[in-house]
Amino acid sequence: MVCLGNICRSPLAHGVLEHMANEQGLDWEVDSAGTGNWHVGEGPDRRSVRTAREHGVDISKQVCRQFKVSDFDDFDHIFVMDKNNLNDVLAQARNKADEQKVKLLLSDKIVPDPYYDDKQFEPVYTMIEAGCRSIIKQLA
Ligand code: 4NP
Repeated sequence: MVCLGNICRSPLAHGVLEHMANEQGLDWEVDSAGTGNWHVGEGPDRRSVRTAREHGVDISKQVCRQFKVSDFDDFDHIFVMDKNNLNDVLAQARNKADEQKVKLLLSDKIVPDPYYDDKQFEPVYTMIEAGCRSIIKQLA
């Protein structure tokens, strides 16, 4: 799961997909990263932590990291939140196989950055939950 900062959206997507996979008994490795490096080493934004907790998902122990080229080797699927993330990750692809791993979490719309609007965290959570449910349906 990849967004810009790896403190708001992708930690939620990481936590929600991991939670759903565990519920289904799926042995999936789920992780998240940001295309930017501003928050590396920090925990998720407290608004994301709170929103996830309200839905029974604990993301408080995640640690922010930056996306790296070896993620193309380590993961089968790379889900991004918006078009900027898509372009930034695709720019690091080494070949067609890398490119084919990268998809928007929601095929028909972007997950907007909630960083500057507290009220966006709940709707963003709902969008991310729908995306994760669809991943479970398609890949389980
Ligand atoms: P995210 O939100 O990409 O959903 O983690 C952001 C958080 C912080 C910044 C940008 C986006 N930032 O520029 O610090």
